[in-house]
Amino acid sequence: MKRLFIIGAALAALVSCAPKAQQVVEEISFDTAKFSTGFESAWLAPAFDDSQWAEINIKDVYEAQGYEGYDGYSVYRFTFDLPELTGSNKDIKLMLNLAKIDDMDWTFVNGKYIGGMNTGFILNSNDVLTYYDVDRHYYIDGDDPALNWGGKNVIAIRVMDNGEEGGMWDGPVSILSYPADKMPETNNHFNESAIYGDIRSIETEDGMLNNTVTITNMNVEPCKGQLVLTDLDTDSGKTEVLLTVDDASIGFAESFSTEVITRENGRHVITAALDGKVLTKVSPKYILTPAAPAEPRINGPKVYGVRPGSPVIFKIPASGDKPIRYEVEGLPEGLALDAEKGVISGSIATAGQYDVKFVATNDKGTDSKDFSFIVGDKMAITPPLGWNSWNCWGLQVSQDRVRESAQGMIDSGLIDYGWTYINIDDAWEAPERAKDGRILTNEKFPDIKALGDWLHSNGLKMGIYSSPGDLTCGKYLGSLGHEAQDAETYAEWGIDYLKYDWCGYGKEFDKIGNPVREEYMRPYVLMGKILREQNRDILYSLCQYGMDNVWEWGAEVDANCWRTTGDITDTWNSLCQIGFNQTVQYPYAGPGHWNDPDMMIVGKVGWGSLHESRLTPDEQYTHVTLWSLLTAPLLIGCDMAQMDKFTIGLLSNAEVIGVNQDVLGKQAQKVWEKGDIQIWMKDVEDGKAIGIFNIGADEVTIKLPAAELGIAKGAALRDLWRQKDLSGRNADVFTVPSHGCYLIKAR
Ligand code: GAL
Repeated sequence: MKRLFIIGAALAALVSCAPKAQQVVEEISFDTAKFSTGFESAWLAPAFDDSQWAEINIKDVYEAQGYEGYDGYSVYRFTFDLPELTGSNKDIKLMLNLAKIDDMDWTFVNGKYIGGMNTGFILNSNDVLTYYDVDRHYYIDGDDPALNWGGKNVIAIRVMDNGEEGGMWDGPVSILSYPADKMPETNNHFNESAIYGDIRSIETEDGMLNNTVTITNMNVEPCKGQLVLTDLDTDSGKTEVLLTVDDASIGFAESFSTEVITRENGRHVITAALDGKVLTKVSPKYILTPAAPAEPRINGPKVYGVRPGSPVIFKIPASGDKPIRYEVEGLPEGLALDAEKGVISGSIATAGQYDVKFVATNDKGTDSKDFSFIVGDKMAITPPLGWNSWNCWGLQVSQDRVRESAQGMIDSGLIDYGWTYINIDDAWEAPERAKDGRILTNEKFPDIKALGDWLHSNGLKMGIYSSPGDLTCGKYLGSLGHEAQDAETYAEWGIDYLKYDWCGYGKEFDKIGNPVREEYMRPYVLMGKILREQNRDILYSLCQYGMDNVWEWGAEVDANCWRTTGDITDTWNSLCQIGFNQTVQYPYAGPGHWNDPDMMIVGKVGWGSLHESRLTPDEQYTHVTLWSLLTAPLLIGCDMAQMDKFTIGLLSNAEVIGVNQDVLGKQAQKVWEKGDIQIWMKDVEDGKAIGIFNIGADEVTIKLPAAELGIAKGAALRDLWRQKDLSGRNADVFTVPSHGCYLIKAR
């Protein structure tokens, strides 16, 4: 199995959604399994006789146990008895902890498929994203007819390996039972549905999508009958039949694939039904953000914070037909405007608030906007908007790739919505310092200063990455013992943002052996002071995964933002666990200092080997909506040279970004929860921004509980994604798709 998936090196202190494990009623544990290479579907059945099979240890992969070099399928079987129950089996749930599996595994209990990490997210013809080192956990309801209480049960796991190591490892395997209402949540259970749909959509020129819909059947019994694919336009409520196959048959572990065309504007749901029974629903990419008007429209925040004498780099973000000419009324002394690019540069010597008016004009019209330069102690008065190389390029980042993404930010028009920072993450550092101790870039970054100059000339800013330890997470040189020298070098290069990642510092910390808050703060206090001494503002971003409740002291070490969690990845589990867990941090966010739930995973990501984000379109809307409400730093994680219209639409909705950039700088709180629906709300300058999220598997229709949220009767509601005022009888009723959301403003 090719390892494309780099698990963040430091997952320490991951804030978990999971409640603490409750009382364990019963535990069955295995150190060994019955094992055979090859695969036949009969091997999944409980009745199969595996007595002739080898016994294998599940502490280590099979290749370490006499099957060296074996590639292909293999099956593990675990046989166990479940006790006769005295009470109802409804009151019990089983949790299967299946250790780690390398890889593309399917798990069956008594012949019934219960889950797998097997969809084999195909990146291109050869590459498959692997989860070889993720623990598998699955749940089964006690009353699942597949279980045999008072008798023999078999777990059978089919594994596939196509290189390197293979099989189950890091055992033991255990089966636990819990009272049904006390089952602890875990997040590593994937693809539990035995029939699942997948959709890949390619944009065609005229706002249409070419969708490849794939339906996979993991029931040992084939799916047979009349297969009908329909397309529901959720705006108009109209349903259209896309395809009918009279004698369809999808065998066990087989897929049915077809191409269908849909329109990209508005949300569509494609339903596959067999003899009238719904098999699966998938939703193609959809664009909600209305096209920007041809007339100029000045977007972005209302304020810019800068310290006296520090360079100002600010691009007036304006959408509309190009060319646009820019003017600034009341431009303070020390600043100059490039009227063609709309880039303001220079510096302001004296602290104070400088109110100006931006004017943008093209041949269709003019727009103007009041704006303030706040010259004083604070930078990042609104959260940073930008890009970071990690989620797309991982350690494969290079100067060319950074520049291509920056060019993508300009060409796609994202720059016209306030996106500014271009941040280089790990892997820019040379293996050795210069003789005088100066940090150097490696061969992938031939001229970082020139890159910075080019970014600045376009009104963009440049960020960099280091660690307070000797080494970064990617094992590149960190700043330990060279803090001042590194900060000076960064300032010379024109760096505007430093992500300072704990990693190698763990070793120093362990030496102290005294984990009091002061020790967690120590390396960050040091760099914070040094950054202040530089002749430019360097936004200070702490990355230590939330240890010691960093939000409680981040501002004290002069940080502008701090990561609250471990690394995000592009799965619903990861997004959901991180995003919906940001509940205690809200009081600590405010102008100049922000909670950072990690970078965004929309568009083409892949930590060095790109694939389309595995988040569904609904999940991607949820991601941007939640991060906007959380008033988080918004750092795009995809290759911006390759964004499609869907991704650009997600990242260029002025009203959605406006919630993030609102001048009050409040972070949303979870204010309401019922079943799978969560409502997160924050005050904004002109009302309340309200996110309605559905974290469950089924669509939910909900009437906004306005009174409970303290929203006045008759308040005007606006759908921010669609940029539409809501009116009429059902203006406050929302049908929220599974993993989807609405973002509303009430005023
Ligand atoms: C991790 C960090 C990631 C990325 C990576 C680089 O610790 O959380 O965001 O910066 O290191 O090696």
